[in-house]
Amino acid sequence: MSVLTPEIRRRIEAYIPRYPNKQAVTLPALHIVQDELRCVPMPAIREIAEMLDLSPAEVYDTMTFYGFFRDENNKLGKTRLWVCRGLACQLRGGDDVLQRVCERLNVRPGQTSADGHITVEFAECIGVCERAPAVLIDDAGRGPVEPEQVDDLIDELRRR
Ligand code: FES
Repeated sequence: MSVLTPEIRRRIEAYIPRYPNKQAVTLPALHIVQDELRCVPMPAIREIAEMLDLSPAEVYDTMTFYGFFRDENNKLGKTRLWVCRGLACQLRGGDDVLQRVCERLNVRPGQTSADGHITVEFAECIGVCERAPAVLIDDAGRGPVEPEQVDDLIDELRRR
């Protein structure tokens, strides 16, 4: 049975005409699959490879090169929360924000809360230094997020 739903396949196929070759669609395909399945399981790698006329090893190499993608043994939670600890954020309390998030969720960076809602990550700069200390909620930057605002942020993310 296919792990890629018809909708996932349709979204990947829509990228193919936009790129010079099918191989170039590997990264968008990995993003689509991870967004939907919260990881890129091994069967999905085989299916992406088949769709893009690649070997599974080529897709796997791309997936593991970036460190952004998760396999089925390390699925993302519903929301991925990146806490920035780049210089601008660090100077304005980013480390305290990360510590508070981890304490509140009882996780270490890279782990997912027991309820499966939130995966915590740290980043070196998320590109919104003017809003330090900043976080990235999936794809959306937000800041400043002060350590004392962390509890409200976690509550908000759990309600999603
Ligand atoms: S250092 Fe945190 S957003 Fe740039």
